[in-house]
Amino acid sequence: MILINFKTYEESQGKRALALARAAEKVGKEYGVCIAVAPQHVDIPLIAKNRSVPVFAQHVDPEMPGSHTGHITPESVVEAGACGSIINHSERRLRADVIEEIVGRCGSLKLITCVCANTSRVGKALAALSPEMIAVEPPELIGSGISVSKAKPEVITDSVRMIRAVNPKIKVLCGAGITKGEDVAAALRLGSEGILVASGIVKAKDPEAVLRDFAEHMRR
Ligand code: G3P
Repeated sequence: MILINFKTYEESQGKRALALARAAEKVGKEYGVCIAVAPQHVDIPLIAKNRSVPVFAQHVDPEMPGSHTGHITPESVVEAGACGSIINHSERRLRADVIEEIVGRCGSLKLITCVCANTSRVGKALAALSPEMIAVEPPELIGSGISVSKAKPEVITDSVRMIRAVNPKIKVLCGAGITKGEDVAAALRLGSEGILVASGIVKAKDPEAVLRDFAEHMRR
């Protein structure tokens, strides 16, 4: 799986978010690879209504529907058309008890959970919460263009080993600095089942071409 986090880049909001989602859908179908997108919350309905691509939220809060202000409930992202959510991204960190609550809330709504971890040890600890996916990303490599699979391969191998020992059903993704197909191939060789990526796609001159390069290396 390739999960593209649109973050808050201007290149991936509004109409540009829709265009990126179109490229993800096209390349995903062409190569038979699951390519999901995580736009800003306000762009979820636009993409979910117009494209046939799995849409994730970038974050959800644990609050129940009701008297709360400025929160994003899991119910609201389901209704907007999302099928999953990133939780605890390095740029949106949460306390462990809050992550547990959110994973539980998402589970009851059948919202797929992709919990992020900054190290393999944190990944192991979060595996106890049984999310569907754990994405391990060394924060110092995020947005650096230096790929985790090249600069810190042990983060991937350790994470896969440690997370699987706790719960073998969890899919382990990795991310940070991935910009080339060969980074993707290396990530898979090291045992991960997919990648979480942002700038390598969003900031690329030709995002569709880069996605195609990723998908080709994923199929090999
Ligand atoms: O969520 C994806 C992420 O944090 C990696 O970012 O820009 O290094 O692909 P980037």
